Amino acid sequence: MLSHAITADPVYEFAADVRAGLSQPGQKELLSKYLYDDVGSALFEVISVLPEYGLTRADERLLRRHAHHIVERLPSPVVVAELGSGSGKKTRWILQALSQTQRTSYCPIEISPAALAMCKRELGDIDAISIVGFEREYLDGLLEVAARREAGESLLVLFLGSTIGNFDREAGVSFLREIRRILQPGDALLLGTDLEKPMAQLLRAYDDPLGVTAAFNLNLLARMNRELDANFDLPQFEHVAKFNRVARSVEMHILSRCKQTVNIPAADFSVTLQEGETIWTESSHKYSRDEIAHIAKDTGFHCESQWVDEEWRFAENLLVAG
Ligand SMILES: C[S@@+](CC[C@H](N)C(=O)[O-])C[C@H]1O[C@@H](n2cnc3c(N)ncnc32)[C@H](O)[C@@H]1O
Repeated sequence: MLSHAITADPVYEFAADVRAGLSQPGQKELLSKYLYDDVGSALFEVISVLPEYGLTRADERLLRRHAHHIVERLPSPVVVAELGSGSGKKTRWILQALSQTQRTSYCPIEISPAALAMCKRELGDIDAISIVGFEREYLDGLLEVAARREAGESLLVLFLGSTIGNFDREAGVSFLREIRRILQPGDALLLGTDLEKPMAQLLRAYDDPLGVTAAFNLNLLARMNRELDANFDLPQFEHVAKFNRVARSVEMHILSRCKQTVNIPAADFSVTLQEGETIWTESSHKYSRDEIAHIAKDTGFHCESQWVDEEWRFAENLLVAG
């Protein structure tokens, strides 16, 4: 697989973001993209097979059942760009369906080099598919893929796994608008969205009894210890999942079990946390079916088709750029 790597200093950027998020007044916060280093990406793969986390299986079921219906609605030839591909396992269904009619370039866009490597291992065997990985932030990567397309080629952007839910609702809308700006009329966005469901079911999905999601969350502290020489004492922290009724989201936090001060030398910074104080690390917003069609219209797309999994309420939405 060809690969285009990040050239800026990622540790410097990580340190700057940690400093900004932990020094802000009120709720302390860390950006969820930092959950995905090598350890975090591996743990996410385990989360995706936990019995309590039905989301990935629902997404996969929809892609397996409807890949041919999705592909037949696309113009040809098409280049596929995937935002935050992770291991790309589910994408196999789309790529296999495409490979029956055309040679296809598949461009996973990832900030996690470990995820990009998994993606290559996972999908490298599909005939008629060439993989060009981009170790980039979502929109930087998409701009590059769009700039490389040849005359007559359309773009299919995949944003699966309800990763859109990691954005605040308003930021999600702005993000879709940015995507639309990069696309041309007729290009498509396949957007996976987790739908609203009972709170207890959601909380189990983000706080499994085996503690894998807890390890995924706390790994962010371990990552700061590894990369920024911080001295977070992990047993003094715990993973918390909460449901935010107003935002209709599940929030992951890291709670401090006591009052403590932590040094983060590479960020030239130390932070004091009170007993019970939390650091907010991720949100996963949940959607209603109708909401997606409205958001699509609002952001310059139209919702061409929607497929819903009834076992775990999840929607695959095919949005076409107008
Ligand atoms: C929730 S996981 C979803 C993975 C996969 N799409 C799925 O559905 O299972 C989000 C993925 O997006 C990547 N990611 C997070 N923030 C990113 C960013 N700003 N730019 C590029 N990739 C990002 C992470 O490394 C991770 O692999």
